[in-house]
Amino acid sequence: MNKQLNKIAILPGDGIGPEVVAQGVKVLKAVMQKFSLNIELNEGLIGAIAIDETGEPFPAQTQQLCEEADAILLGAIGHPKYDNDPTLTVRPEQGLLKMRKELGLYANIRPIRLFPALSKLSVIKEELLEGVDFVIYRELTGGIYFGKKTRTKDYAVDECSYHRYEIERIAKLAFEESMHRNRELCLIDKANVLDSSRLWREVVGEMGKAYPEVNVSYLYVDNAAMQIVLNPRQFDVVLCSNMFGDIISDESSVLVGSLGLLPSSSKGDGAYLYEPIHGSYPQAAGKDIANPIATILSVEMMLRDFGHVEAANVIQNGVNYCIENGLWTSDLGGKKRCSEIGDAIVGYISELAVLSL
Ligand code: IPM
Ligand code: MG
Repeated sequence: MNKQLNKIAILPGDGIGPEVVAQGVKVLKAVMQKFSLNIELNEGLIGAIAIDETGEPFPAQTQQLCEEADAILLGAIGHPKYDNDPTLTVRPEQGLLKMRKELGLYANIRPIRLFPALSKLSVIKEELLEGVDFVIYRELTGGIYFGKKTRTKDYAVDECSYHRYEIERIAKLAFEESMHRNRELCLIDKANVLDSSRLWREVVGEMGKAYPEVNVSYLYVDNAAMQIVLNPRQFDVVLCSNMFGDIISDESSVLVGSLGLLPSSSKGDGAYLYEPIHGSYPQAAGKDIANPIATILSVEMMLRDFGHVEAANVIQNGVNYCIENGLWTSDLGGKKRCSEIGDAIVGYISELAVLSL
């Protein structure tokens, strides 16, 4: 990639967002110092906090900040006061959907990588987990999420539509990724029922001819949901439409043992977005108990994407160091606080004594 990482928009958002993002930024600043990286960081509002302050979940000012940035680091979005009232017309999640659409973030990339030291935490049997390492490519700006909507009192419609070009652009990224991995690409769809899925199969099948080294397979989403827990090792690159990817990625996160460990990136035409896959976890907000690793690994993904491989590696090693040495937050069965994990990784990066923690 030729893009340069000069400006990052920092969007802490709601719930535990601000505290996990604070750790991500702390770690980012530590590598910036260590590797003499000169990156401008600018903070903006999104989600419930943005509604409170501006009336909008993705204010124009935040959009501008994102458009001027090369990358965005997002915490989480959502507040319980919106959850049980379907009549509310302005909701925090709209901020996320608007950001994806406005910034053209059509590909959401969610790696599912296990930490062997934590395999006991998963509800899945340990022997099924060894060697699990796959990545989900979820289409993010089309399908049922953005289709035509109709609503009367007793009738509601959410249309699922896809254009060929929307499938081609994400499939291209997925094929390219599989060339760097085990050359296995699995399209998850419902082509036995849905026309939109049949188009996905057609397009992906045709594109596969340009990647003869890649073995393309297809699974119906119901079967795939079962296969992910029965035999997760079979997957390498998984490609899905928006809604199926949403569901499959939460399911896959269970393999890893905690949602607090999984980063993600979203790519498209402009700035790339990096965020933990967990939500705003309001019950833990402000308590300094959330796991910041998903956010710290999102910073790692960002640096790697922009070619700062050494900086990314040192973060990854710092995370591994914490996990292997039992520096765990409560979701992993440990006693460390969110900020202590950030401090430990910063200590690792700066080569200070961290064992005392
Ligand atoms: C996700 C989330 C979002 C989605 C919600 C918060 C709108 O579940 O990023 O997976 O459905 O895309
Ligand atoms: Mg989801």
